[in-house]
Order: sequence, then structure tokens, then C-alpha cells
Amino acid sequence: MDIIKTVAELKVRLDECRKGDKSVGFIPTMGALHKGHGDLVIYSVKENDITVVSIFVNPTQFNNSDDLKLYPRTPERDYNLLEGLGVDIVFTPSVSEIYPVPDNRVFDFGGLDKVMEGEYRAGHFNGVAQVVSKLFNIILPDKAYFGEKDFQQLSIVKQLVKQLNMTVEIIGIPIVREQSGLAMSSRNQRLTEEEKITASAIYRVLKESVSMITDYSPKITSSHVIEALNSIPGLRVEYFSIVDSDSLATISTWDSAKSIVGCIAVYCGEVRLIDNIRYK
Ligand code: PAJ
Repeated sequence: MDIIKTVAELKVRLDECRKGDKSVGFIPTMGALHKGHGDLVIYSVKENDITVVSIFVNPTQFNNSDDLKLYPRTPERDYNLLEGLGVDIVFTPSVSEIYPVPDNRVFDFGGLDKVMEGEYRAGHFNGVAQVVSKLFNIILPDKAYFGEKDFQQLSIVKQLVKQLNMTVEIIGIPIVREQSGLAMSSRNQRLTEEEKITASAIYRVLKESVSMITDYSPKITSSHVIEALNSIPGLRVEYFSIVDSDSLATISTWDSAKSIVGCIAVYCGEVRLIDNIRYK
């Protein structure tokens, strides 16, 4: 496995691969890798000749400097995990390598970036779009893999690729969970053992809410989820929205869309966690 730090070196290595007509799969990450990232890698290794993983804690997508500072960094563990999964290239650029000049681009994804995470984390998706578009430009992958854990991010990346007429195929991978049901996340490393148990209520309550759809409206279902989680000491719901999976617009009846998902952000102590559940 090659660990490459510069764009120039990576281009040389990838040009060689493409001369041999090899397909390239790509997984962008911010490191502190876990089994959720591992699943994306497993799909890519299966479906492509060459798999590239980037590890880059992207400063432009953090709207809170403490969150950026506290973001876990575990490079040696990450390399071991990736090597074991059969990754060919890890790209770990510096900030100046990715942003040689300031990126002043402002993206607009219609309704997709204004709601939920977009409402509570101003500028977050603009930063994601900046870095993902740059990484796609550098790597020119055939396929790129994103987790459904970040459901809104996946929708936005699909839209980004359409807006920029990129040819990369975006593939969404189901959420990987701990045995407790807690969605795996690099941020879970910041939870105490007790907080991890508390946080497992998020998925339990989301799952329970799926059975409400036969008798209750989306509005009542959503109030139930928020109240049930807020009544647990240590948890504070920031938002919970039941939305059309395509437009991310809030739905008023279960018939309003063909595919419906509930997206949540919850503080467990100081740590902000996100998760989602499909209703249909
Ligand atoms: P990061 O949080 O490191 O996540 C990298 C990828 O792993 C994302 O596509 C995310 O959805 C996926 N992932 C994380 N936890 C998962 C889980 N439990 N199950 C399935 N997939 C999971 O998302 C980012 O980094 C950044 O925003 C990035 C796209 C790299 C741009 O900087």
C-alpha cells in the first residue's frame, strides 16, 4: 500500500494505473477509521482494480474551531486497517496541498443544503462540496463510495456531480452500527462508556418510531421521537426531520413521497451525533 502526500506524486501513480486501463474506486474520509469506513472500502476493493482512500481533515467544512481541533487523528491505526482491507493507495495531503489558494467557490444545491445539517452547521456543505470536488478532480475515480449515515451529504454529493457534469458514479452504502445500535462514527471515540450506552437510545427510539406510521402522522411521530430522546438525561435533540429522500423537504403525510427518511442530530454530552432511519 502506497501512502502518498502530494498531488503530483498521486497523479503519476494514477496515470500509470489508467494506462493499464484499471478502474479506480475512491473513498474520501477524515480518518479515525472504523468498520463503517471499512465497509465502503470493502465494496470498492470488490468493484474496482485500484482503491484509493483519502484521509484529510478538511478545515473548510468545520464551522466550530474546537470541533476541528478535537477531531480524532489516528494515522497509524488507519493505515493498518486499510492495508488489511487491500487498499492500494492512501492519499494524506496537507491543507496547503488541497488549498494552494483560498477556495472562494460558493455552491447552491437548491433545497438540499438549506435544511437540517445545512440549517444548523452554516457553511458545512459548502466546505464538503469544495473538498469533494477537488478530490474528484485530482483522482478522477470511476466510482466513489459514501455512507448513508451522512444521508444529506450523500444527496448533496450526487447533486454536486450532476451540477459539475462529472462522470464519477456515486454509490451509497448502508449504515454500519455497533451491536448496541449506535451508528459508528469517528466522534464516538469522544464518548465515555456510559455515554455510549446513553447514545444507543437514538437508534432504539428511531426504530420504534417506524411502527408508528400505520396509526400516526409524520408530525406526531416526529414529536414522539424528540420527546422520548429529550427525556433521557444526557441527550439533547438538535433536530429531527421526516423528509422526502429525494428532495429532503419535510413531508406532511406518509403518502407524500415514494421514499421517506427521518434524519436526526442529537447532542450526547458535548458530542454531536447524527443518524437516520428509513420509513419507506
Ligand atoms: P468521514 O466522517 O470520515 O466519513 C467518510 C465516509 O464514511 C462518509 O461517506 C460517511 O458517510 C461514511 N461513514 C461514516 N460512518 C459510517 C457508518 N457508520 N456506516 C456507513 N458509512 C459511514 O464524511 C466525511 O468524512 C467528510 O465529510 C468527507 C466526505 C470525507 C469530506 O471531507
